[in-house]
Amino acid sequence: MKKVLAASVSCLSLALMAGTALCDTPKGGKIDGKHEFEEHCASCHPNGGNIVNAKKTLGKKVMAANGVKTEKDIVAKMRNPGPGMTKFDVKTVSNKEAAAIAKYILASFK
Ligand code: HEC
Repeated sequence: MKKVLAASVSCLSLALMAGTALCDTPKGGKIDGKHEFEEHCASCHPNGGNIVNAKKTLGKKVMAANGVKTEKDIVAKMRNPGPGMTKFDVKTVSNKEAAAIAKYILASFK
């Protein structure tokens, strides 16, 4: 755990110093949920909002009110979305990427 923490901290500080996405393709295949979110979701959900349906933002409370509470629920939305949302199958977003995105959403948007 300590090692993982140190790795991500140094990765972050490197990225900050260089001002670029140095952590874009980290060694060892670690997936960056934020990066994946920005690539696939942020066009419609900038900062966890929703430009298509303002009632379905990614804020924790709003999602919970809509029955989306866990990482699994978020992944289920990607695989089987409601009206107006792009469908993301395993070929577009792997299960690991989907889980990383879900984790990022739950940790980021209140
Ligand atoms: C083309 C625009 C679009 C894209 C791209 C998109 N979404 Fe959505 N998203 C929507 C819309 C519209 C809804 C509301 C659908 C509904 O009524 O169920 C939604 C709803 C959701 C919800 C449920 C929110 C709530 O409060 O009930 C989650 C979770 C979600 N999206 C996650 C994602 C993730 C993760 C991605 C990227 C992998 C993504 N979305 C990409 C448009 C989009």
